Amino acid sequence: MATASLTVTDNRTGKRYELPIEHGAIRATDLAQIKAAPDQPGLVSYDPALINTAVCKSRISFIDGDKGILRYRGYPIEQLAERSTYLETAYLIVKGELPTASHFEMWKHNITMHTMVHENVKHFIRGFRYDAHPMGILVGTIGALSTFYPDAKSIMDLESRRMQTRRLIGKVPTIAAFAYRHSRGLPLVYPDNELSYTGNFLSMMFKMTERTYRPHPVLERALDILFILHADHEQNCSTTTVRAVGSSHADPYSAVAAAAAALGGPRHGAANEEVIHMLEEIGSARGIPGLIKRVKAGERRLTGFGHRVYKNYDPRARIIKQIAHEVFEVVGRNPLIDTAKELERVALDDDYFASRRLYPNVDFYSGIIYQAMGLPIAMFPVLFAIARTSGWVAQWAEMLLDEEQKITRPKQLYLGADERSYVPLEERQDGGALETEVRGPL
Ligand code: CMC
Repeated sequence: MATASLTVTDNRTGKRYELPIEHGAIRATDLAQIKAAPDQPGLVSYDPALINTAVCKSRISFIDGDKGILRYRGYPIEQLAERSTYLETAYLIVKGELPTASHFEMWKHNITMHTMVHENVKHFIRGFRYDAHPMGILVGTIGALSTFYPDAKSIMDLESRRMQTRRLIGKVPTIAAFAYRHSRGLPLVYPDNELSYTGNFLSMMFKMTERTYRPHPVLERALDILFILHADHEQNCSTTTVRAVGSSHADPYSAVAAAAAALGGPRHGAANEEVIHMLEEIGSARGIPGLIKRVKAGERRLTGFGHRVYKNYDPRARIIKQIAHEVFEVVGRNPLIDTAKELERVALDDDYFASRRLYPNVDFYSGIIYQAMGLPIAMFPVLFAIARTSGWVAQWAEMLLDEEQKITRPKQLYLGADERSYVPLEERQDGGALETEVRGPL
């Protein structure tokens, strides 16, 4: 059977190049054999923000953005949200298969045994200002874990990778809850290994003087589903970061801290936080026309809308919208939901959003549920990071073992000054060309 290929004809020389197509892609390095001019290096592909570039082969999550499909290791997100738990889903993501009952027990035990942190981590967290954003504390503290576990540098050792995986999935919720308690001036609550993964996190967040914290089963399950929905999402910004940093063979704590830092941006995992600020700012449905006007004038974005990959309803947003009502039955209705639903209706009806295929994404409704559950707004991106940790470690390990991967080192198209001679400081004049040239982005 003939292999598919792309024929490129150089119309100056008439030379033809056959670029093989595999898995719907040509290899960018195959372009290097084509030269724009004999004395120039081979062609490169120019793709700012990697919009149309596959950077790896992966077997972890699958998205069909046009159809609104998300699967982890082949399992539809809807089935996992309905039937699985976060810890089981994390196993699936990390190991590639759903666990048997005995493997699952072992996995739960292994994660639970790593929920404690070294006492010095507590002191480290105490060093942050009382009003430090918990995402900053999380990023800094995950990075600091590499100094507690120097064995993590043995990245090519399977047992070491497994150990760091358990530590990361086990400890990130503890650090997250410590960050919150620190910001409230509350005593830190140690993990309770009798509780579920999510129940324990709620205990570390909210336990006061009671002997044992009992999470409300509906809220515990709702948060667990939210964690499932956020566990992995192919090559998003933070996952690309974990792979890029990991490709230098930095230890996994450093790579995951970098990923968490990427997640903390408002275009990525902190969008859930921004959605609440946006909804509170407009106050009620009456503020929607004004907001839409500003968005269409390019003054701001409609946060919680749009996605690089989904050009249809984000399947996670659909599930979250359903859970919202179960949560509201327990804790009461968050009035922001009405504004959000009306905003969604208005936006989906508007040609600006329809023509750009902008739909609600995962962050549009998640913050409303978190807020109803009493979780503070600043913790929203942190909750995202807890869930995404399993995805990050799975992607990091997949990258490490992929023989085609090397240190991430893209190319650039240099458009700066040609070679020029150094001018001594005393000879440089204020004003003129020099002044306009230095007016750059910084
Ligand atoms: N509000 C208004 N216009 C938008 C929005 C939005 N939220 N998103 C995209 N657009 C417009 C954009 O202005 C552009 O219009 P034009 O073609 O006229 O210039 C067009 O849609 C394409 O936008 P883009 O910036 O090229 O799209 P992108 O794929 O680079 O950006 C995004 C994706 C998620 C960063 C963007 O949609 C956005 O900023 N959304 C708001 C922030 C948000 O909700 N982020 C959470 C993403 S989901 C969770 C996660 O993965 O972290």
